[in-house]
Amino acid sequence: MISVLFVCLGNICRSPMAEAIMRHKVSAAGLESSIRVDSAGTGDWHIGHEPHQGTKEKLDEHQVSYEGIRARQFTSADFDQFDYIVCMDDSNWNNVKKLTGAKEEKLIKFMDLLPEHELREVPDPYYTGNFEQVYDLMEAGCEALILKIRSEKL
Ligand code: 4NP
Repeated sequence: MISVLFVCLGNICRSPMAEAIMRHKVSAAGLESSIRVDSAGTGDWHIGHEPHQGTKEKLDEHQVSYEGIRARQFTSADFDQFDYIVCMDDSNWNNVKKLTGAKEEKLIKFMDLLPEHELREVPDPYYTGNFEQVYDLMEAGCEALILKIRSEKL
């Protein structure tokens, strides 16, 4: 089983959006028994909370389920338990790196999945209000991540 963990700050906007879309794609590809998907936040403010209303609205619009997704905080144990740890921005990436030491091979910056895109970090819709932008990035990036996993691990 290959495992993927998406990481953002609050675990209510970007990483649960990625988790829901990735699960949807994994299921559509018939890969549920091969790829496990989860998400976490580096902050502790929203532990146990459902995704943000803006994230839920976008996912509803596209009929992508977020059932059962609740915020939790990233721990150093996650680093050992997941094969791919995908961070939404440089601050998340630095926080994960600080918590887990110097082993960087499994740490990915989400926008490195979309190398031609002008953005190099996923903007935080908690501050920008632009959940549509994040949906589009997650849609394209998760597609690229499945191709990457297929070529590297499956
Ligand atoms: P996220 O957005 O990291 O994409 O979930 C945020 C959600 C909540 C907060 C910050 C960012 N907050 O400060 O509560």
